[in-house]
Parts: sequence; C-alpha cells; structure tokens
Amino acid sequence: MTGESMLQVRDLTKRFVLRRSVGEWVRRQPGETHAAVNAVSFDLARGEILGLAGGSGSGKTTLARMLIRLVEPDDGSIVLGGLDVRALRGHDLREVRRRMQMVFQDPYSSLNPRLSVGAAIHEAGRVHHQPGSEDAGPFVARLLDLVRLPAAAAARHPRELSGGQRQRVAVARALAVGPEVLIADEAVSALDVSIQTQLLNLFLDLRDELGLAMLFVAHQLSVIAEVCDRVAIMHLGEIVEIGPTAEVFHSPQAPYTRTLLAAHPRPMALADATDPEPT
Ligand SMILES: Nc1ncnc2c1ncn2[C@@H]1O[C@H](COP(=O)(O)OP(=O)(O)OP(=O)(O)O)[C@@H](O)[C@H]1O
Ligand SMILES: [Mg+2]
Repeated sequence: MTGESMLQVRDLTKRFVLRRSVGEWVRRQPGETHAAVNAVSFDLARGEILGLAGGSGSGKTTLARMLIRLVEPDDGSIVLGGLDVRALRGHDLREVRRRMQMVFQDPYSSLNPRLSVGAAIHEAGRVHHQPGSEDAGPFVARLLDLVRLPAAAAARHPRELSGGQRQRVAVARALAVGPEVLIADEAVSALDVSIQTQLLNLFLDLRDELGLAMLFVAHQLSVIAEVCDRVAIMHLGEIVEIGPTAEVFHSPQAPYTRTLLAAHPRPMALADATDPEPT
C-alpha cells in the first residue's frame, strides 16, 4: 500500500515574534519569540496517509504551510523527491507547490466565487500545462468524475453547491495540477458526520487510484482513525509521538497523547477493527 519515502522533513522550526516592548521596538531589537513548530521531523511515503493531530495552537497549520513555504521555516530541512525545498526559488518553487497541493477547511477561501466550477478546474490545469488541459470539456469531466461529481457540476458556481460538494471541487482543482502530495488542513472538519465519511472515503479512493501521499491535519481523532496509516501527535510545537494509527490510539506512549485520547472517548472505530491485540 505504501511505498518509498518521498518527503523527508527534519528539525523543521518556525518561531513567531510574540511581542516587542517599546524599548525593543525603538532599538530595533527582535523581541521575544515563541516556537510555533519546534524541530519537527517525519517522513511521508508514496501512497501513505499521515495524520497530524493535536490541540488548537499546537502548530499543525504552521507545519503544513511550511512544507510549501507559505510560511518560511527558520530552521530544518524539507526534501521532496531529492529536492531541497528550502533552497528553491521562482519556477522551481512553483513546481514544488504544484507537486504538493493544499486543501483547506473553507473552500470559499480557495475558490473564486466568480468562476464556474469547470472554469476553476480548467484554469488550474492550464496554468500548469497539464496533459489534456488544452481541451477543457473532457479535462474537467475527468476531474469531476475523480471526485464523484456529475459532469453537470461544471456549470455551477461555488455558492450553488453544498459544503461537501464545494470541498470536492476544491479537491478536483488541487488534482487538476497533477500533485503527488495532498496536504489537507482540517478539510472535513466543518462538515456533517455523514458528509465527512463520504469525503474520507473519497480521500482513500484517491490514494488508491492515484498513489497520492497525504498529510491529513485534523483535530478530530475519529477522522484521523478512519483514514490515516500513521498519526503524528503534536503538542506545543513538537511531535510528541508518531506511529501506526491503531498502535498510537490503543497504546499511547506520550503523556500528552493519553490526555488527548481521554478528551475524545473511543474515537477509533476503524482502529478497533485493526487491533493487533487478541480479544
Ligand atoms: N502569523 C503568525 N504570527 C504569530 N503567531 C502565529 C502566526 N501563525 C500562528 N501563530 C501561532 O503559532 C501557534 C501555532 O498555530 P497554528 O495555527 O499552527 O496551530 P494549529 O495547531 O493549526 O491550531 P488549530 O487547531 O486551532 O488550527 C499558535 O500559538 C499561534 O498563535
Ligand atoms: Mg490549524
């Protein structure tokens, strides 16, 4: 199911300036900083879904955004398929951003309300010269089909769609540029449970059909349990524990993981099914 390591993250660190006193500001001193992400390391394999869980403010979004340098890291390294992502600029950086696509919680923020669904998907593919994108109709139809939307959805505008449909469009647009990695930041968190399940199944299908790797950020442990092969638990900017999802949820090693699990009673229906322990 999972293949060789395609993304290696080592000691990745981001510090934000907390506040500067007037004196520091006058003397142009940098002020007190706080590490939102502190020396985080992990690998992501082809076809693997790695979950990122943790409390609010633990650094999940900052970490996710650093991978494509929407947030500039202060320290550490990001290597995608042998490329040193932190060293890239211009065209090479855009190419990395094509290969690692983000899907956000609120598709309204990433979809242009004036563009039809078809136009948005086609535009994304065209800008990145994707094969088949010369011919808008079939190109858009193929992507809508990939996210299980009817071809007629191409003529719709984002406001005419339900939240779940809109998120499918956001995924189709991300796929239109031919990524190898999807970074989903709370991509299903705002949806009803039944719609959530449908989208999680879609992510699993896409992994199988396209061999995509995913970093799946979610604060809901039940969501992580449904799709993730492995899970990393973040607390105060650090990964305190990382391992196969069922193992981490059934025998948590870090004290913080136990605290987090205690706050989410029995989230792991799927992890139960793969429980390695005899019953
Ligand atoms: N641009 C910024 N400037 C200053 N501090 C920031 C900035 N972005 C994030 N932070 C701080 O970094 C820390 C981590 O925030 P981040 O958004 O990465 O957490 P998160 O785990 O995604 O939280 P949530 O579950 O609420 O989405 C928080 O303390 C936050 O206040
Ligand atoms: Mg976040």
